[in-house]
Amino acid sequence: MEQQIGRDFALELVRVTEAAALAAGRWMGRGQKELADQAAVDAMRRVLNTIPMDGVVVIGEGAKDKAPMLFEGEHLGCAEEPKTDIAVDPIDGTRLLSQGMANSIATLAVAERGSMFESRYIAYMDKIAVGPEAADAIDIDAPVAANLENIAKALNRDVRDLAVVMLDRPRHEELAEQVRQAGARIRFIMDGDVAGAVMAASPGTGIDVLMGIGGAPEAVVAACALRCLGGGMQCKLWPRNDEEWTSVREHGIDVKRVLTAEDLVHGHDVFFAATGITDGELLKGVHYFGDGASTESIVMRSRTGTIRRVDALHRPSKLDLYGIPVD
Ligand code: FBP
Repeated sequence: MEQQIGRDFALELVRVTEAAALAAGRWMGRGQKELADQAAVDAMRRVLNTIPMDGVVVIGEGAKDKAPMLFEGEHLGCAEEPKTDIAVDPIDGTRLLSQGMANSIATLAVAERGSMFESRYIAYMDKIAVGPEAADAIDIDAPVAANLENIAKALNRDVRDLAVVMLDRPRHEELAEQVRQAGARIRFIMDGDVAGAVMAASPGTGIDVLMGIGGAPEAVVAACALRCLGGGMQCKLWPRNDEEWTSVREHGIDVKRVLTAEDLVHGHDVFFAATGITDGELLKGVHYFGDGASTESIVMRSRTGTIRRVDALHRPSKLDLYGIPVD
């Protein structure tokens, strides 16, 4: 019989994102995206290999920009059971980190084997994500104004009270205009739409909805968080060129198909963890001091819906086991 993913996995996964953040945090503002990514990937791989599971990387970050990656299909973990799918984003916001800007995070998600949507043939998805109260109010096929009206109604607010988070990209000019015409406000982010989706689905962040086109791997990672948070998410593949159109067709996926959070990860035991690398609105970043470093993480589990924030102090001398460079 297949072994279930136990609840202790939550802490195991926080160790992984902490390790990645501790390793990557040293690269803040140093203008070295690839070295930062490599540090995070190496630390993530090292700690993932200490977890009792047979995990396979379904979502590996980096194919899009040839960053060093945890390879899709790579097996990680030190046991034969439970069998899991892993989605990693060792640094979401590599540019934010390398340019010393806020909101870069280390993140990953784990769920039962075979439960995650494989997105390797497509770089981008169009996304909309909200918290639990507005989960039934979104329809990615409906006009932006209708979505905002329905979300406002579900939240018992005016449209002008709403804040939409979106990546600051030329491709979003029309979307931004439609949001403005509808009367809502916009919070532009330079990068990091996993954190954007988590903020949209979490209470008290001042963000009510994520809209726009972002990375497909990030959509799957964010969907794992949304499954835990009980939020609503809808996505559609967004092929950029002939090659991607052909690839999408070959995989038999209809680009018109609306993919919900459940379509992107349909397991019952979905876990999501993230640790701040640079200080941000969702999470504090890594702070280094004389004999150690501090981190802030968030970890969630879909089966129970429990969301934990974990403040940790790390002692470098005792972290030798993982070879994590804290000082
Ligand atoms: P990386 O840090 O992994 O490069 O991703 C940053 C990011 O902003 C994601 O959060 C987002 O989904 C994607 O890039 C958007 O892609 P692009 O920068 O090509 O618009």
